[in-house]
Amino acid sequence: MKRNEDPRHEASHPPLDVQGDGQSAGVPAAGEHEHVSYNPTGGPGIHHWQEATISRPGLDERGSVFFAAIEMTRMPMILTDPNLPDNPIVFANRAFQDLTGYTEEEVLGRNCRFLQGANTDRESVAELREAVHEQRAVSVELLNYKRDGTPFWNACFIAPVFDKEDRLLYFFASQLDVTRRRTSEQAFRQAQKMESIGQLTAGLAHDFNNLLQVVSGNLELALSRTDDEAMRRPLENASRAAERGAKLTKQLLAFARKTRLESKPTNLNTLIAEFGEMLENSVGPQIEVQLNLRPRVPSALVDPVHLEMAVLNVLINARDAMPKGGTVTISTSKVHLNGNAAAHHLPPGDYVALSISDEGEGMPPHVLERATEPFFTTKSQGKGTGLGLAMVHGFVQQSLGRLEIDSEQGKGTTIRMLFPAAVSQRAEAPRQPSRDPAHTEPRGKSETILVVEDSSDVLALAREHLTALGYTVLTARDADEALIVFDRAEGKIDLLFTDLVMPGSMNGLALADVVREREPCIGILLTTGYNDDLLTKGKASAGADVIGKPYRRLELADRVRAALDNRGRERQVPASIQAPGPRHEG
Ligand SMILES: Cc1cc2nc3c(=O)[nH]c(=O)nc-3n(C[C@H](O)[C@H](O)[C@H](O)COP(=O)(O)O)c2cc1C
Ligand SMILES: Nc1ncnc2c1ncn2[C@@H]1O[C@H](COP(=O)(O)OP(=O)(O)OP(=O)(O)O)[C@@H](O)[C@H]1O
Ligand SMILES: [Mg+2]
Repeated sequence: MKRNEDPRHEASHPPLDVQGDGQSAGVPAAGEHEHVSYNPTGGPGIHHWQEATISRPGLDERGSVFFAAIEMTRMPMILTDPNLPDNPIVFANRAFQDLTGYTEEEVLGRNCRFLQGANTDRESVAELREAVHEQRAVSVELLNYKRDGTPFWNACFIAPVFDKEDRLLYFFASQLDVTRRRTSEQAFRQAQKMESIGQLTAGLAHDFNNLLQVVSGNLELALSRTDDEAMRRPLENASRAAERGAKLTKQLLAFARKTRLESKPTNLNTLIAEFGEMLENSVGPQIEVQLNLRPRVPSALVDPVHLEMAVLNVLINARDAMPKGGTVTISTSKVHLNGNAAAHHLPPGDYVALSISDEGEGMPPHVLERATEPFFTTKSQGKGTGLGLAMVHGFVQQSLGRLEIDSEQGKGTTIRMLFPAAVSQRAEAPRQPSRDPAHTEPRGKSETILVVEDSSDVLALAREHLTALGYTVLTARDADEALIVFDRAEGKIDLLFTDLVMPGSMNGLALADVVREREPCIGILLTTGYNDDLLTKGKASAGADVIGKPYRRLELADRVRAALDNRGRERQVPASIQAPGPRHEG
């Protein structure tokens, strides 16, 4: 086979590098191959050859130090013979055998394509094919498979070897396993993407919460003022829709790790056992829920209410993955991470694992890769919003734990949530009893509340609600105005109810601090549409309570009452104490 005529050889390449009195000569790479793929030399490859001309073509001469060097190098290397049918391997060094797991006998005589498999990119293969056909060098990174089926990213460099008459004798190739670099790059890109989606969603959710506050609050007002049944039904429908909207924004905030979490030592066995019936009801009779709760698992430091929501989301996914029914197994266990902590991207220590396994259809790799992205769903429209796993992922991360997903197509899925174990077992907090639905609104005892809020709609609504509850209400649009109103009221104000993020010289926290300084026994209640780093950075005034938007009237009534009733107690707490554990605002 004669060398292809390629005018580039004469035109652009640096002078030939001649070795051993002309025994061989090569065309230096001159940096040409380094942009496309890996670079084992650490800098642009200038000197190594990208094609060679040799004078002694045989493969039998194995007594020279050069042969020993090839067998000693850790760089996998092979030669193929394009003059034999299908360009088979005629030499493979030891490192190639180490990389691929094949023995010499197993590879000699075969074309290299046996390294390719199901997920090898066909375009990369075409690139190789073209270069081989044109008898020129090429570097490509492509997915290959070892003898035992393990996939690896192969940075493959191939170059032709000619004789002095320009006949093609061999192809030389070196291979390098660059899996680690590829995976970490991929993880990094994915993390970056999630981070920016997170910021976007958090911002959106924040604005949405203000809007929903106005919508649902006014609907509540309208409902409280009409007895007309024909009017009530559409209002109630609208209320339900607004509630669903609030639920969605909650999930978005959870994904963005901006939920208000109240992590406390929680016994996951108890939580799952108590939650069991509700779980079974939500997956239906087709699905059997099996509990495999390891006795004496330590308590986990986690927000139990959010955890229930996360478990429910995962369970509903499992149900959807098993349309014909099947078994879901929920198990708990204690996990100690030490040497293996880095592999889980967690600091060493004790963790509690909560695993949920199904026998469903599993996820193909492209679904698995994106399953925790918000709005990624494979379900038909109206069936899924793609927020379930996004919420779970954000929540687990915000809880300083980790979400791990094992899934294989046709074999089922295991979702594992790792949470940090609570340090002290004695600190087990009693679970909050759910509130009696017939609970009545606590009312004002003619106290005066200063409401500070920059959105006029939200402000108007708060005033309506609080007045109706029996409070005297003063309002201000920002912190500066609030301080004027505050001074003018001369000590008559019992509670400052302020938005956290406001335009102007001061935010809600700063305002609260100033007001506290002037009037130490005033009650303070903060409100916000999402977690502001303000709160998590520990600047929150001690005792300042926070109510998330959108809030319902009953919730507002409760929280205002509590903030007023707690006034006396707060004074004993020194200012600027930080609550322990992750506590964020939603
Ligand atoms: C010297 C040499 C080394 C090669 N090494 C690999 C390799 O490590 N992995 C791989 O997937 N393909 C490798 N190939 C490419 C395949 O042998 C083949 O050329 C490619 O699959 C395109 O041809 P096909 O479409 O006929 O399969 C190599 C080719 C040559 C000539
Ligand atoms: N147990 C599972 N088995 C198979 N595929 C799953 C499983 N859990 C999640 N998936 C896949 O991941 C995708 C994303 O899941 P996620 O829970 O985030 O959204 P969803 O279930 O589609 O919608 P939503 O939960 O918002 O109603 C699903 O559409 C599905 O393709
Ligand atoms: Mg889901």
